[in-house]
This record gives sequence, C-alpha cells and structure tokens, in this order.
Amino acid sequence: MHIGRTTLSKFVIEQTRGQYSEMGALLIDVAAAVKTISGLVGKGALSGFAGALDSTNVQGEVQKKLDVLTNEAILRHCEWGGQLAGMASEEMDDPYRIPERYPRGRYLLIFDPLDGSSNSDVNVSVGTIFSILQRSTAGDAENVDYLQSGCEQLAAGYAIYGPATMLVLSVGRGTHGFTLDRESGNFILTHPDIRVPEETREFAINTSNERFWEPPVQRYVAECQAGKTGIRGADFNMRWIASMVAEVHRILMRGGIFMYPKDNKDPAKPGRLRLMYEANPMAMLIEQAGGAASTGRQRIAEVAPETLHQRVPVILGSKSEVQRLERYHEEYDTGADRPFVSPLFAERSLFRD
Ligand code: AHG
Ligand code: MN
Ligand code: MN
Repeated sequence: MHIGRTTLSKFVIEQTRGQYSEMGALLIDVAAAVKTISGLVGKGALSGFAGALDSTNVQGEVQKKLDVLTNEAILRHCEWGGQLAGMASEEMDDPYRIPERYPRGRYLLIFDPLDGSSNSDVNVSVGTIFSILQRSTAGDAENVDYLQSGCEQLAAGYAIYGPATMLVLSVGRGTHGFTLDRESGNFILTHPDIRVPEETREFAINTSNERFWEPPVQRYVAECQAGKTGIRGADFNMRWIASMVAEVHRILMRGGIFMYPKDNKDPAKPGRLRLMYEANPMAMLIEQAGGAASTGRQRIAEVAPETLHQRVPVILGSKSEVQRLERYHEEYDTGADRPFVSPLFAERSLFRD
C-alpha cells in the first residue's frame, strides 16, 4: 500500500496547473498508454505477439508486431481528449491526423512506441519515448508544425519496461521517476529530482562500429579502454544493452556516457538515432538532471530539424565526459589534436625507440 505517496496524476496536475493543465491531461493519457504497453510486453511469449511482420517502417526497418501494436495503443489512448493537434511516431511515415469526431487542441505528441524492439523477443528491457511540443493555435497540425528544435519541448519522458515498469518525466522542472505499483495500477513518485552523477567510469557504445567512427570518438574510447595505464588514469567499464531507454535509465541512476555517434557506415545517415522522438526527449531528461547531450559539435536541443524522421549523432550523459568529447571533436576539426596513436602500439618497444 502506498497511501499518501505522490502518484503520477497528482504530480502532473500540480506541475501543469493553469496554462498547461491540458498538457497535464495529455500526460495522464500517455501514462495510461504506458500501462497498457507494460501489460502487453510483460506477457512475453504468452501475449502471442512475438516476432516480426512483413512490413517495414519509413526508415526501412522491419516492423515487429509489437512495434505496430504499441503504436496503436498510444494513438487510441491519446487521440480522444481534445488536447492534441496531431501525433507523429517512428512507426508512421506521416503524422497522424486526429479523427474528425474528436476535438483538437494545441499540443503535438511525438513518440517511439517501442524502443529497443530487437530486445523484445529475448526478454531484455524495452521502452517508450515521447516528446510534447505545441503550436500557437488549436487545429490540425501541418507537417511543418512538428519541425521544432528540442529546446521547444514542453515535456519529455520515457517508460522502461524492465523488472519494474518506470516512467521518467520532465515538464521543464527537473527529471522525476515513477515506479508502477502493479497492485494499485498507480505510478508512484520514487525518484524525485534525479541528478546524473558527475563522476563516471562507465561508457556505452556499440564497438562493432569502431572502424566507422570519426577519430575523436576513436580517441575517447581508446583512452577509456587504456584504463589505468592511459591518460585517464582509471579503469572504465563498458555496457551495451541496445535499448537506448535502458542505457539512459542507467545513466540517470548511476552516471556514465552513452554514444551513438556519427559514423561513415552509410553516408546517407548522420547517425543511428532519430532526432525528434529519441534524441530530443532524452536530451531534455538528461539536461534537466544536470547532464549534457550533444552531437559532438552542437547541443542536441539546438539542432534545427529538417524532416520528421531525421537521424542525429548522440553523445549524452555525465557533463564532464560529454564536454571532453566535444573538445575532442573541436580539436579534430581545427587540427589541434595530436594524430591518434593506438595506446597499444605506444607500449610496444618494437614500434618505438
Ligand atoms: P528502435 O528499436 O526504436 O529502432 O531503437 C533501437 C535503437 C536504440 O534503442 C539502441 O540504442 C540502438 O538502436 C541499438 O542499435 P544497434 O543495433 O546498432 O546496437
Ligand atoms: Mn528507438
Ligand atoms: Mn522503436
């Protein structure tokens, strides 16, 4: 029993009273969708929705049944209330128009309904990421209305479906975590005012892409791997879950850095992650918790979007580490860094006098 503890509804109503009360109602609908999704993914193979479909999404990725179903869950939970001018998602080529039978509002909801969906069949944490923007007037949103930079977000959050389901939220006044009490069905405020720990010795990156990275990222990771024997003078640990939600959650809880940087694997793609519904909301949550989020060359929140599904390099987490990576990018771009030499070779007398 959690009598007297702060529920998500109470928190949201208090934080959005007045001018943003309709956004509060929208957030409560988002939380309802998250509970539905939590129930669905929590059933695992018993849900009967494991596996892939024949379809691909706008990014050419094979859709899973759960990608489509979780997308539907959010649309159905949030379309009716009259707060929205439209919705957009990773799983829909074009923005979703609110059906004629429902009233329209001024908010825009943008989301990744199931992040890390490659993990859903192997029972590893997945999540939902969302971002809320607004237009100046109520009415159907045009595509161009969505193309606002991350700084314009009014709220952002994610749900993580792990051993416990949690919802982590910011409405621009800190980042706060709620844990789903499965008995009462309430989200209870368990992690008020989360702060990203400053000191970190943990990094997350998909090292199978190492040969495609730019030199500043290769330099940073090599220095972490060199550990006590290198210029960092400390051993680092590495994690890669392949669910951004789970990586960001770990960083909010115990610090660290997450990178899906620019690479030259496919020159048409400047990164793997999507700006509007992955990078921007996570950047807001991390910044509101005292961390930093960058492309390596620019604050993510200041990137001016050109298209709804555009990709962006992502480097986020503990501020000092993100700043170090920004410095390495700058030194590389201006030619101020020393040529990268693998610390492995530096240690071998065979290669040096
Ligand atoms: P999604 O399942 O929404 O397509 O996103 C998966 C993303 C992100 O969650 C994760 O960090 C990354 O893709 C994993 O990429 P790799 O498969 O390259 O490791
Ligand atoms: Mn995703
Ligand atoms: Mn997804």
